[in-house]
Amino acid sequence: MPTRKAAATTLPPSRPAEILAFKTPRPPGSVISVLDLSLENISDILALATLLEKEDPLLRMQRLLKRKVALLFYESSTRTRTSFEFAAKALGADTALISSQSSSIEKGESLKDTGITLKALGAECIILRHLSSGAPYLLEQATGLPVLNGGDGTHEHPSQALLDLRTMLAHLRGGETAVTEKTLEGVTISIVGDILHSRVARSNALLLPLLGARVILCGPSALLPEVASTIGPGITIERDFDKALAASQVVMILRIQAERLAGLHLDLEDYKSRYQANAPRMAAYAPKALLMHPGPIIRGLELTSEVADGPQSLIAEQVSHGVAIRMALVARALHAAGGVSAKPESSAKATSAKSASAKPAKKARRA
Ligand code: CP
Repeated sequence: MPTRKAAATTLPPSRPAEILAFKTPRPPGSVISVLDLSLENISDILALATLLEKEDPLLRMQRLLKRKVALLFYESSTRTRTSFEFAAKALGADTALISSQSSSIEKGESLKDTGITLKALGAECIILRHLSSGAPYLLEQATGLPVLNGGDGTHEHPSQALLDLRTMLAHLRGGETAVTEKTLEGVTISIVGDILHSRVARSNALLLPLLGARVILCGPSALLPEVASTIGPGITIERDFDKALAASQVVMILRIQAERLAGLHLDLEDYKSRYQANAPRMAAYAPKALLMHPGPIIRGLELTSEVADGPQSLIAEQVSHGVAIRMALVARALHAAGGVSAKPESSAKATSAKSASAKPAKKARRA
């Protein structure tokens, strides 16, 4: 069994926006939490993602031609960083990648000053990954620019939750984009593993019940404190992985975040025996469930290679959905910031799409 030497309760409320006193209005187009988005916003983002994915690449490049997007990554990333960069470039934007190594961050420059510098250089939108929960709100306030949260500490990873949603909708709802509070009614999603340190778990647990899904959080108490059920409505806790599997149409496996385990010592063999997604377990309890993982995966720990590469696995497909979702988020951020229309005049396909309007939220709930 896992044992804990130092208590870590970073789960709810962990709502940095409620703690920070905003001095200026938040820029439209920022997405720092899934709670920034209404169902109407989510539908627009999903529809825009589909439109942009299908669009002629040369027309698509006109949308944000020569606009400037900065990617500010203080923490390592493969999927989020690459897909945001591909997404911005596919829309014609110029991108600059700033990482904590090889930039003035190494010399002690603050996040605020780095943000002000990027704005002075012409950046119109910043995509931020940061070790600290709430850092995107500080950057947004310091710059007045739309900020897209590429994962902040243990807080949120909203673009991951949106691409996870798009993946589920592709398999369960024929690629539906116009979502309502009933779209995922009757669907149970189990999120399994290191919930305590997972921004992906929080964003999904906040997002999926909005569409009517039931979310089960599953893991040992050291990685899943009881308080996690209060992240939001529609969430329950199940310690028995086999029972969670048997109840689920979708199983989302999480990595144990070794880099955030300070003070926590896990018996990995015990963890594997109770929570590893392996072929016999999937066959016995969830032979038809969709198997998801945000990545990076640790083969042989939270799941076996047989499962990761097996017919139920959507792991690579999730990554592909990331580019479409992030194109929509970048287009929306720059359009909402007062730039060129998200509908090029020359694109008949684009002009016919209601979703391309990237209109501001009618009922946006700000975190
Ligand atoms: N899912 C995810 O955020 O992966 P990266 O850390 O590689 O970006």
